[in-house]
This record gives sequence, structure tokens and C-alpha cells, in this order.
Amino acid sequence: MMRNIGIFDSGIGGITLLHQAMALLPGENYIFYADTDHVPYGTKSRETVLGYVDEVLRFMTNHDCKAVVIACNTATAVAAEAMREKYRIPIIGIEPAVKPAVGESKGKRVLVVATPLTIRDERFRSLVARVDYAHLVDLLPLPGLVEFAEDGEFESDAEFAYLQRELSAYDLEQYGELVLGCTHFNYFKDSFRRLLPPQVRLIDGSEGTIRQLARVLEARGELAGSAREAANKNDTSVRYFYSGRAVTDARELERIERLHQRLEKMQHIR
Ligand code: DGL
Repeated sequence: MMRNIGIFDSGIGGITLLHQAMALLPGENYIFYADTDHVPYGTKSRETVLGYVDEVLRFMTNHDCKAVVIACNTATAVAAEAMREKYRIPIIGIEPAVKPAVGESKGKRVLVVATPLTIRDERFRSLVARVDYAHLVDLLPLPGLVEFAEDGEFESDAEFAYLQRELSAYDLEQYGELVLGCTHFNYFKDSFRRLLPPQVRLIDGSEGTIRQLARVLEARGELAGSAREAANKNDTSVRYFYSGRAVTDARELERIERLHQRLEKMQHIR
């Protein structure tokens, strides 16, 4: 029987990874879980988010998942290690792409934007400390962008003004890379691009995370289309859940489809 790949986030941000997974790994059965009852995660406590993530993992293991992708930088930072100890299925988590950004910034500064909880998190702090030898990395929480994304406000004046205000504290000419350290932020690549000087490149960890998922499944002989699973490559399926409830409403599914379309447009902005 064909098993599932579970992908989850606090909300719509994780569709970024689902979108890439569907392109890179067709023929799979995906379960996408948005924890809409509890979004946002990034302004809550570590203990609270740990509890939410545990609930999602329990759901995934009860839904025949062969691997789970934590499509939320915040949840990875606070819960990935604990979940790997507790559950036996492979758990792949997205992290802010700080290491590649530092490597590619050619001595210029690196600005990491993420949620307040990610930025406070010890595991994230030690990731930064490990790669930021020259003290080039600055951290900026942008919780407002999560709210704009959940409200579907992608091109509003208020959203643009918020981002402009938050970035105005930085001399952006000194920067070479901007790390999108929250999956919700990928919906706003056009606004970032408009506000940043041309030499600042946008980078995020989504493609690397899906490549890691592919490697893990391949190593276990569990990729659809491999000898063990006789899947039809064109036969990709996705089921959406909001905090454990199946999404069946046609209008809601259309809204999700529009989010995929927006991400398709944003994907080419660097
Ligand atoms: N999308 C999530 C992330 O990547 C967090 C958004 C939130 O719930 O605050 O960190």
C-alpha cells in the first residue's frame, strides 16, 4: 500500500514546501496539515509550541506517514529534536539557511528574518554562532508578516509599509544576503525584492529540505516509483487538514490553489 508524506506548519507557510515537494517528488501521496487552531507559533512559548507539534506528529503517525516534514522553522527549532526522540519515523525539519547565506555573502552582512520564537531559540542561536565567525549576521523578527499572510494580505499598502518600516533600521547597502527564516515569508518575496538593493540575494531553506526528504526516502527504498513502491509518477495526491480536520469545502480548496499559484510566481524571485 502507498504510504503518505506528511508536511505541516502552523498555517499556510508550509505550502511553500509542499509546492516544492510536489514538483521534485511527484507520484507521492501528501498530507498537508496547517495547525490553524494554533497559528501563529512564533509569538508563543517554547513549551506551548512543543505541545502543538507533538499533537501533529501523533496525527501523522496515525495517518500512515513514511516521513514527516516540519515545514516551519519555528517548530523545527523548538521541537525537532524532542520529536525525533519520541517518534520512530524520519522527521525532516526546515531551518533558516544561515550557513549557505554566510558562505555566499562574500564578506557582506547577512540579515536573517524569522519569528520571535525562532530568534530567541537556543538551538537556532548556536547554529548562527557556529557559522558566523566574522560577526556579519543580524537577526530581525517579523511576526507581522505571519499575520498578513494568514489574512491573505499579500500586496497591501499596510504590508509593504510594515516591511519598509522594519527594514529602515538597516543600512541595506552593506548586506549581501537576506535569509527568509520563516516559511510564511516566501509569499512576500516581491515586496522584499522591491525594498532591497539589487545585490542582496533572497535565500531560504525550502529546496534543501525537500532534497533532504528525497535522500532519506531514497535511502530507505521508500520513494514512490522506486522498486518497492509501484506508484504512477503522474499520480500525485494531496489531502489538506486544518488542525486535524479534513478540508473538503470547495471554496477553501480554491483558496489553497491560489496560494500555490502565488508561490509559483514568488519561486523565481531571488
Ligand atoms: N511558518 C512558521 C515558520 O517557518 C511560523 C509562523 C508562525 O506560526 O509564527 O517559522
